[in-house]
Amino acid sequence: MIYDIRNYSHAELTSIIRENFHKPDPRLFELARKTAFKYYDGRIFIRGLVEISNYCKNNCFYCGIRRDNHNLERYRLTPEVILACVQNGYALGLRSFVMQGGEDPGFSDDTMLEVIREFRRNFPDASLTLSLGEKSREVYRQFFEAGADRYLLRHETASKTHYDRIHPPEMSFEARIQGLHDLTSVGFQTGAGFMVGSPFQTPEDLAHDMLFLKGLNPHMVGIGPFITQADTPFADYPSGGANETLVMLALTKLMLPKAMLPATTALVTLLEGNRKPAFDAGANVVMPNISPLDTRKLYNLYSGKLATGAESAEGLDALVAQIKAAGYTPEFSRGDHIEYKE
Ligand code: 5AD
Repeated sequence: MIYDIRNYSHAELTSIIRENFHKPDPRLFELARKTAFKYYDGRIFIRGLVEISNYCKNNCFYCGIRRDNHNLERYRLTPEVILACVQNGYALGLRSFVMQGGEDPGFSDDTMLEVIREFRRNFPDASLTLSLGEKSREVYRQFFEAGADRYLLRHETASKTHYDRIHPPEMSFEARIQGLHDLTSVGFQTGAGFMVGSPFQTPEDLAHDMLFLKGLNPHMVGIGPFITQADTPFADYPSGGANETLVMLALTKLMLPKAMLPATTALVTLLEGNRKPAFDAGANVVMPNISPLDTRKLYNLYSGKLATGAESAEGLDALVAQIKAAGYTPEFSRGDHIEYKE
């Protein structure tokens, strides 16, 4: 069978990636779409996103909230504001939430534990996903015990030599991968992920991402294009492409049919707000922003980041209408991965 990619070698994956980057094959997208309907009935899971802090102790060469970017106004939400954002989303019908932030030493793990516990007390029927970077296994365990359900930690690239070219020496590929194993072992639904078109990346590197994902078998995979950010060391490197990102989404859908795949903000930014091509490539999650409006522009990972959200009923209605118009079904439940449903 064509695109029986779970059985492909590294060389075969590399050439299928290269060919589809050159000229996308419509059959790849048809298969990805069919797979999305087979496993999740064409449902698109809506999760309200709160960006809790844009402080970060890391210095990733590509990222706009890196430590050495002094051109950025920093903010940190209080637990009260975070929970008020969730309350607002809950009142609009959302039952799945994501709390994301830089690795902010000023936002202690104990404070986060309180936020998680308070979330669990107030919203027992909602799910909580965290995306707060690298922590110790013990902290992951505490977060999980306190009531968080999922954790996103993009691996960024599965090739160590490539990883070392886009990160400063104090960051370690091995620690990143260990983090993903730790998260899964404490019980989290775990999300990996990578950028497409980041500087120095080759189709061979992306083939490694595919094989890595097959081995790890994560519950979620975040895939977005690299987008140039002017205040970073990679200011002069070109952004990745929407088409290349869609190809990698579709291949990932075939590699891990049950995985939750967000239509990432970076991809939707390149698609100028139109999510249909992402859904048609297998994306089945959207994460509208429910952070306070005044802080949203400050979570400036890359230039031109879309800042539309669902903090208002109107914003959410527009998203729901877009999902339906694209031929999919909006889903407001906890949105667990198939294997976590009873
Ligand atoms: N372009 C696209 N994605 C980026 N990220 C960070 N910087 C950029 C950029 N310039 C992504 C990384 C990281 C997440 C916080 O955002 O994949 O994991």
